[in-house]
Amino acid sequence: MSFDFVDSSNRQIYAQWHVPLLQRLFGDALDFHLDLYERTHFHRREHNCGEDDGACTAWPSPPYRSPVWKILAERIGAKRFLEVGTGLGYTAALMAEAGGPKSHVDTIEIDPVHADLAEAELGKRGLSHRVRILRGDAREILQTLDEPYDVVFSDGGQNDISYELRRLTRRGGAGTGIKSRLREPLIGVLADLRASLANKIEPEMEALSRAGSAYRKAVWDVL
Ligand SMILES: C[S@@+](CC[C@H](N)C(=O)[O-])C[C@H]1O[C@@H](n2cnc3c(N)ncnc32)[C@H](O)[C@@H]1O
Ligand SMILES: [Zn+2]
Repeated sequence: MSFDFVDSSNRQIYAQWHVPLLQRLFGDALDFHLDLYERTHFHRREHNCGEDDGACTAWPSPPYRSPVWKILAERIGAKRFLEVGTGLGYTAALMAEAGGPKSHVDTIEIDPVHADLAEAELGKRGLSHRVRILRGDAREILQTLDEPYDVVFSDGGQNDISYELRRLTRRGGAGTGIKSRLREPLIGVLADLRASLANKIEPEMEALSRAGSAYRKAVWDVL
């Protein structure tokens, strides 16, 4: 397995080669909401007065993770999603679509500017009725939630909420490993696929089929 990426947050890499490969693997079945991904980066720079980094931490979840929610929904029948750190609603939109018309996403956001923007973005996509934005500090809001969720995704940068996240993940559900455990396997699958297609190591259909299976298996392994 060869990783030829330099920096995991480098969106040029996502845009130039992750996304086209993901579209070939999952394209027909998935809306990647790439406009919202880009808008989130744009917002962050504006909010940080032109700098990439600063007080605003609205880094959208990387697109190589976009198919994960759909795969989880199919595998465990996930309908109830919980996210910490809404940003502008990019991952919440992916979750709401992955779970289908009867799904529900609760997503927690401390920054009122982000919560307002996310509300508008989800509204534009016709997803507001399936996504509830809980405004405030996740460390307080999590304590007020009781119902277990099928999928719990922590993207707000807190280290001290793992007890609450475990408590809120149903048995057999997907929890805190989603972010930490999937990065290398999923980027690895895409790197292998790219090498196989570029070097014509095997017929294209076989390469795509093998990569699709490996991607799914990596996601199932977090359960
Ligand atoms: C990495 S961004 C989330 C990106 C989003 N999940 C996506 O994929 O587009 C982190 C977000 O967490 C929010 N945040 C930071 N601390 C928080 C806290 N204690 N409670 C709730 N949200 C928090 C930030 O305001 C920011 O919008
Ligand atoms: Zn911001």
